[in-house]
Amino acid sequence: MNEETVTTEQIEEMIAEILTSSKYRDLSIPHATLLDLFRQELPNHKRTKELKQAVKTKLHRIIAPYLGDPDYNQAAIDLDNAAKNGEQAFYSFCHEMLASHASTRERLPIMEHFYEQIFNQTGMPATILDLACGLNPFSLPWMHLPPSSSYYAFDLHQPRVSLINRFLKHMQRPELAVCSDILVDPPQVGADVAFFFKEAHRFEQRQRGSNRSFWLSLPVKTLVVSLPSISLSGRHDKISQHQRLVVDAIGNFDWPMTEIRIGSELIFIINKAV
Ligand SMILES: C[S@@+](CC[C@H](N)C(=O)[O-])C[C@H]1O[C@@H](n2cnc3c(N)ncnc32)[C@H](O)[C@@H]1O
Repeated sequence: MNEETVTTEQIEEMIAEILTSSKYRDLSIPHATLLDLFRQELPNHKRTKELKQAVKTKLHRIIAPYLGDPDYNQAAIDLDNAAKNGEQAFYSFCHEMLASHASTRERLPIMEHFYEQIFNQTGMPATILDLACGLNPFSLPWMHLPPSSSYYAFDLHQPRVSLINRFLKHMQRPELAVCSDILVDPPQVGADVAFFFKEAHRFEQRQRGSNRSFWLSLPVKTLVVSLPSISLSGRHDKISQHQRLVVDAIGNFDWPMTEIRIGSELIFIINKAV
């Protein structure tokens, strides 16, 4: 199938159908994400039905509902209550949010150590971007960032982003969480450090080779990429595959890189400011 056999109108109809389906209608996923997926998949499928299915499969992997979610409406109520009930209640709420998603749940036992180790390498950033943040912003109380620092968070899941902004407000920080597709529209905020945790392997699945141009486009001094050392099922060692991903993405760029391991995460500290 090529652009002659499927019209822009047909693509827009399929996008509308997917975005308003019961699975996705409450998430406000950017239209740009769907358009990008259709453009990527268009040359690979002969029939409209297969094209739509391929896009839905990729979208499912991007949104990854199997990694877990809180009930966002209830979480907003619980957050407001926790904020009224003192520091211990607020920390418990953050803990509960972090436990509701697989990526952050794995870090819970090592939270203090995790950020201490990273900032030992990068220095304490004045501006930080949390790219494809998921529920990681709820680990802010364990990051010990100075109040003067700016913390931006990006995700394409609107209920998650709204809850994060409500949380930032309670933390007396500016509401700098943004709902956007960072692959289609890479953030252009200059920063000392950008976190890109546990998503680079999914970027490669979405679009092979995309990490290299994405990392290049970010106006940040240090990029901290993390990848799991084992598969989600715990059955497969992913160390060499994920080390190769990072080495290939850096390629011939003159970006010194240091690798550290914290818990089950491989952390690559990539210095772009040379
Ligand atoms: C595997 S989770 C990782 C969350 C977080 N970085 C962590 O390690 O705790 C991936 C997150 O990235 C978001 N995401 C995936 N692709 C994205 C994109 N292109 N733009 C913005 N967010 C994206 C998903 O919505 C999800 O919240």
